[in-house]
Amino acid sequence: MEPGFTVTVNGVAREVAAGPERSLLEVLREELGITGPKLGCGEGMCGACTVLLGRRAVTACTTPAGEAAGHRVTTVEGLAEDGLLHPVQQAWMETGAMQCGYCTPGWLTGCAALLARVPHPDDARIDAELAGHVCRCCTYPRIRAAVHRAAE
Ligand code: FES
Repeated sequence: MEPGFTVTVNGVAREVAAGPERSLLEVLREELGITGPKLGCGEGMCGACTVLLGRRAVTACTTPAGEAAGHRVTTVEGLAEDGLLHPVQQAWMETGAMQCGYCTPGWLTGCAALLARVPHPDDARIDAELAGHVCRCCTYPRIRAAVHRAAE
């Protein structure tokens, strides 16, 4: 039997039966059934798998699940609170920032982390901070607009 550990995902303590060296993305999606974070490149280059580890945005595909042991993980499913969308989610809808939507969960968690640290980022800061996220539909101008709207 593989060693296990506990991780708190979206506010709920979950027992993980996988080895700590498995990627956090695999554990979230395959073991815990949390499919918001997406597999894109699998190499930390596209941001589709981004989740919050504590307050820090991390690429779950390159993060060993064991690093999350005893910590709080927030996925896109956990951004809304008390029945209200997170301001970034609301802004995404209002600006039409997504097209195919595959990368959206990663962008949303990455933007939430950015705004928690930098409440009113300018365009240069948005571009620099979110450079690790790729959108194949190239909705970058609308994504930038969504970040500004969420910051209002
Ligand atoms: Fe993790 Fe691309 S799938 S960064």
